[in-house]
Amino acid sequence: MPSGRLSVVVTRRLPDVVETRLKELFDVRLRDDDTPMTREELVAALREADILVPTLNDHLDASVIAQAGDQLRLIANYGAGVDHIDVATARQRGIQVTNTPGVLTEDTADMTMALILAVTRRIPEGLAVIETGQWKGWSPTALLGGRVSGRRLGILGMGRIGQAVARRASVFGMQVHYHNRRRLREETEDALQATYWESLDQMVARMDVLSINCPHTPSTFHLMNARRLKLMKPSAVIVNTSRGEVIDENALTRMLKAGELAGAGLDVYEHGSETNADLRALTNVVMLPHMGSATVEGRLEMGEKVIINIKTFADGHRPPDLVLQSMD
Ligand code: DGY
Repeated sequence: MPSGRLSVVVTRRLPDVVETRLKELFDVRLRDDDTPMTREELVAALREADILVPTLNDHLDASVIAQAGDQLRLIANYGAGVDHIDVATARQRGIQVTNTPGVLTEDTADMTMALILAVTRRIPEGLAVIETGQWKGWSPTALLGGRVSGRRLGILGMGRIGQAVARRASVFGMQVHYHNRRRLREETEDALQATYWESLDQMVARMDVLSINCPHTPSTFHLMNARRLKLMKPSAVIVNTSRGEVIDENALTRMLKAGELAGAGLDVYEHGSETNADLRALTNVVMLPHMGSATVEGRLEMGEKVIINIKTFADGHRPPDLVLQSMD
C-alpha cells in the first residue's frame, strides 16, 4: 500500500509538530476542535479512513468497530493503554492495532512520585494556605505530614512504569514491594531491591503506600475492590496513575470519608472526567486531570511512534508496536 495515498483520520488535536509530519506523509484529516469525537463522528471516521489514529477518549467497542468500512486496516492508537479498543474484534475484522508503549514510562513514574509526595506531605493544603493569604509564618506544628523515607511502597503491576516507580522510590528511601502476574527475574528484582508478593491480599495489608501501575483489563477491573481496600492499613495511602477502573471508586470514597484510609493521590478515575464530588471535597485526596504522561517530550515521542507504526505498516511490514490482544 503506497503510504502517499493512505487516508489517515486523527480523532483529536495533536501537537503541531506531529500534525505537520502526518500531513507531510499521508493524506490526513486532522481534527480542528480539541474535543473528543462523538460516537457518530467516530463511526464516520471508521468508514472513511484506511488508518485511524484515536486516543483513549474514543470508545472503540465491538459495536463501533462492527460499523467500520472494509478499507480500515490499522488503528494506530496515540497512547499506550488500549482498554478503550476491542482489540479482539478489530483483529477478527483484519484490522491491526498499535499503541505507543515505552515513551510515557518516565513521565508517568515521575507523576506517581509527585502524587505520593503531594499526599504524604500535604502539598495542596500548603498551597491553599499561601493562595488564600492565611500564612502567618513558620510553625512547629502546622501541616505535619509523614516521612516517605522508610515507608513500604507496594507496586501493583511491575511492568515498565511500575519498575520506573520502583527506581525512584528506592532513591527516596522507600522499601519497594510488588505484586505482578509474573514474578520478575531475580537479577531485575535485585537491581530494583524489590520484594515479590505472590498474594496481593497479603501485600496490600502490609503497605504504607500502594501504587496502581497495572493496565485496565477484564481481570484488573476493580482489582482493588471494597474487600481488598479494607485490608489496607488505616494509615496507608493509595496512588493511581494507571486507570481508574482498577479501583472501586465508590468504596474508596467511602473509606476515605470514614477515615479508614489516610489519603489518596489520583490521576485517573473510574468514570473518566466525571469525577466524584465527595472525593473532590476531601482534603486528604489529591486529584489531577489525567496528566501523568503530559510532557512536551512525551507527546512528541508518542507522535513519532504513531508515525513509525503507520509507515512500517504501509511498507508492508509488521508495525513495531503491534498489540496482539487486550492485555488480559
Ligand atoms: C496512555 O497513553 O494510555 C496514557 O494513559 C495517557 O496518559
